[in-house]
Amino acid sequence: MKARIKKIIDKYHSNKGFLVPILLDVQREYNYLNREALNLVSAFLEVPISQLYELGTFYKAFSLEPRGRHEMKLCTGTACHVRRVPLMKDNIERVLQIQAGETTPDLEFTFETVNCLGACALGPILVVDGEYHGNISISKTNKILKKLGKKVKIDEEN
Ligand code: FES
Repeated sequence: MKARIKKIIDKYHSNKGFLVPILLDVQREYNYLNREALNLVSAFLEVPISQLYELGTFYKAFSLEPRGRHEMKLCTGTACHVRRVPLMKDNIERVLQIQAGETTPDLEFTFETVNCLGACALGPILVVDGEYHGNISISKTNKILKKLGKKVKIDEEN
């Protein structure tokens, strides 16, 4: 891990002014900001570990917990909410057997709810691995989950 962190820091010429991009690269490498990686960044750049944790908790782009290989974000903004989003949320939670904001134990899926994504006319919207799916329904959601390798029982498809 040491060599990989060093490589990231070298890319930014060990410049402490690039803490956010450095942490973004670390997160991309390990899928989250793990303690060991943060300790190494702290040591290499000589910045207090508390400063790194502050950034890690301040920016929503960072996660201090392991994330799933696939990320699903369901918009729960008002325009999407009135189009049956609560039912879709319940369905995703049931299929993945986690609550919104959690990651499956096999680290395959992270599911979150988000506020308005600014594309209300296309709502309800589900973002899967960065790809926007508009006019989403329970059936479409289950097709996406199946495509990503999740077993969805027939009675969960409607
Ligand atoms: S409320 Fe969902 S995109 Fe605006």
